[in-house]
Amino acid sequence: MASFQRCITSFLALAPERPKQILSLGAGFDTAFFRLRAQGLPPSLSLWVEVDFDSIIQRKEAIIRRSPALASLASLDAPQTSPYRLVGADLATADRLIETLRKVPLDPNVPTLVILECVTVYLQPAEVPALLRALGGYFGPGAGPCAVLGYDPTSEATDRFGLIMIENLRSRGIEVPSLMAFPSCQARQQLLTSCGWRFPQCLNMNEAYAKLPVQDRRRVERTQPLDELEEFRLLHQHYVLWWGVLGDNPLALMG
Ligand SMILES: C[S@@+](CC[C@H](N)C(=O)[O-])C[C@H]1O[C@@H](n2cnc3c(N)ncnc32)[C@H](O)[C@@H]1O
Repeated sequence: MASFQRCITSFLALAPERPKQILSLGAGFDTAFFRLRAQGLPPSLSLWVEVDFDSIIQRKEAIIRRSPALASLASLDAPQTSPYRLVGADLATADRLIETLRKVPLDPNVPTLVILECVTVYLQPAEVPALLRALGGYFGPGAGPCAVLGYDPTSEATDRFGLIMIENLRSRGIEVPSLMAFPSCQARQQLLTSCGWRFPQCLNMNEAYAKLPVQDRRRVERTQPLDELEEFRLLHQHYVLWWGVLGDNPLALMG
């Protein structure tokens, strides 16, 4: 997802002389670290930490170890010097998660980008603010700055799109209890503010897409037949990119 990657790259490019940390919560089998590392990691990236359930982390580690190319990029056996860590934890128990982050250790004085890509929908509605508050409590007092960046599907309770999505996922045994809990950009921004995050920003993916460089948009449009463009826009209307900051200045993550 080009807009999300662009936000990560923009964050790493801020004050390039300062080390930076990325904390990816609910990272799953995401490969962003490996793509960045294969291209040559920005020298400012000091630590990339991925958190997911123990079972997912164990499977991911096994996959990495089976591939000599991935194993060498991750340097899992040299945790003192590797910029990459895999951590098993449940995001639903925010206090325990923070204890785990303390042990990694993630340094609240180092600028940190917390990413939540397609994750908050899986938490219960009350667990989302609890997580954002706990992260604020950990990173807020540090010299940071710290930003949180999320990407989620979202829907009004009466919207057919959301009802069909819930039904489709449920038929595959997947629940998304927070899909309708923060049904608009305004709701996401209020959520961030109420949890102590400042300068809240939110764009639906049509708005985020319009901010991409023209050559990226042309490439997408060349690959989408015209009759699929309407569907593409409808889908993008239901996905939001949102971020907020702990610190005194907004961060221009979308350029
Ligand atoms: C749709 S996947 C997204 C993976 C990745 N962020 C990406 O965009 O490719 C959602 C991930 O969130 C993780 N997840 C959901 N609830 C979680 C929880 N309570 N604690 C830890 N991880 C969780 C799932 O295990 C899964 O890997």
